Amino acid sequence: MSEPFYITTAIHYPNGKPHIGHAYETIAADVIARFQRLMGRDVRFQTGTDEHGLKMAQKARDLGKTPRELADEMAGEFKDLFDRLDITYDRFIRTTDADHHQASRAIWEAMEAKGDLYLDRYEGWYSVRDEAYYDEKELVEGEGGEKLSPQGTPVEWTEEETWFFRLSKYAEPLLELLKKPGFLEPASRRNEMIAFVEGGLKDLSVSRTSFDWGVKVPGHDDHVMYVWVDALTNYITGVGYPDDSEMFRKYWPASLHLIGKDIVRFHTIYWPAFLMSADIPVPQQVFGHGFLLNRGVKESKSAGNVTDPNELIDLFGVDSLRYFLLAEVVFGKDGTYSAEALVNKVNAELANSFGNLAQRTLSMIHKNMDGKLEAFEPNESDKALLTTVRDACAATLPREFEALNFSVGIESWLKAVFACNAYVDEQAPWALKKSDPERMKAVLQTLFLAIRDLAIAIQPVVPTKAGVVLDQLGVTAERRTYTDLSDENWFGALVAAGHVIEKPTPAFPRLEMPEVEAA
Ligand code: MF3
Repeated sequence: MSEPFYITTAIHYPNGKPHIGHAYETIAADVIARFQRLMGRDVRFQTGTDEHGLKMAQKARDLGKTPRELADEMAGEFKDLFDRLDITYDRFIRTTDADHHQASRAIWEAMEAKGDLYLDRYEGWYSVRDEAYYDEKELVEGEGGEKLSPQGTPVEWTEEETWFFRLSKYAEPLLELLKKPGFLEPASRRNEMIAFVEGGLKDLSVSRTSFDWGVKVPGHDDHVMYVWVDALTNYITGVGYPDDSEMFRKYWPASLHLIGKDIVRFHTIYWPAFLMSADIPVPQQVFGHGFLLNRGVKESKSAGNVTDPNELIDLFGVDSLRYFLLAEVVFGKDGTYSAEALVNKVNAELANSFGNLAQRTLSMIHKNMDGKLEAFEPNESDKALLTTVRDACAATLPREFEALNFSVGIESWLKAVFACNAYVDEQAPWALKKSDPERMKAVLQTLFLAIRDLAIAIQPVVPTKAGVVLDQLGVTAERRTYTDLSDENWFGALVAAGHVIEKPTPAFPRLEMPEVEAA
């Protein structure tokens, strides 16, 4: 039985169209999901939209729509984008789904049964933009002296009767969890959370009465749940909580919640506390990735620098975007992007290095060997190259991807590509055509073997383009996992089957820098 692996992204507020940050997180999660599948795990991957709350209600009102209309429209935008990005999710959850309301009420009832919920009056600060409560002492001062949340968003004073969750009761187990190696990554995010708990946890307001767009509190129809209570619950809804216990036992606790660094508090303090209260195991890992900056600047409507990810796909193609984001950004840290940086990196590394290697090699096999493969005896330099490539593809890259160090894993892959290109220059197969045709065949076929390893290894990042190369090589779809890398018979089988290499077309054509419109 293969080991289950359950990965989730944060679910996104559908109060507007998706931006580059949504694309980044979801691409990264998809790379992990594809990687784990290729490692032989039984993967479940969930993403979706977080549709309740005051922010949605207010935005819909401003637009003259119902929250449901706005959510339907924008959830469609997210889905379309994720389809275009080749995101292989198993479920796109919407918090307005019926099973999600059921799951949210079930976890509520479990917390209530534990004695962890009580009615009281809430008086304090609330940020609609963050959908978060803040303590007076957390607030910062804006330019005009106004009070802002630590995230720089406006806050408003609220007073109403709400249900409270006994968060304070869970301080000790939460501290233990936060200190557990691997639970919250990267480790640089731990201290802030530990300090937050050590600073004293207040009970959390978990329902609202001033508006009604949300999951109704069981037995109290005048209250809707605080949007984060139902939002976080999406992770268990999607694996069958509370009914489908077989699926739930298989995939829960989640292997990994992938989220942005700004919502770590919700995922490593509130969420585990709710789960502990409801006697449900806590997730194995929460990873808070960094933000993507546009030429070093945060994108915002007011700065007028918002990028539509669809536009990047139109200009450069999905795999180029996926490769750039994963290879360029140190995962966990903030990263910066621009069209030039993308074009330069993709041209240098994919078009000129890997793409060119595959194109040249396959063309030469097609032309100089009539596209036919044959058994050959590799010499010492051939073997050395194959060992370098195999190490990068079967050991270093998987080890680094497992640890979510994507840029490091890709770098080792790229070094192996460079080693192949250095070998081509050294061996000069074109010159061997007349002088030593047997040796030419050995060189080209050594490269053929290397390209196959390289294409298999990089599939999670550039699935379509790696697939094109593997098709050209004749590697069948069911022989493309990381385990297949060590199958030494595949080449012999290809030779025996009389496989013929057709005239290739470049899988990684060079990108052009788009014309900049005159201002
Ligand atoms: N919608 C929230 C945000 O974008 C994230 C919700 S993640 C969940 O900040 F876990 F609560 F679902």
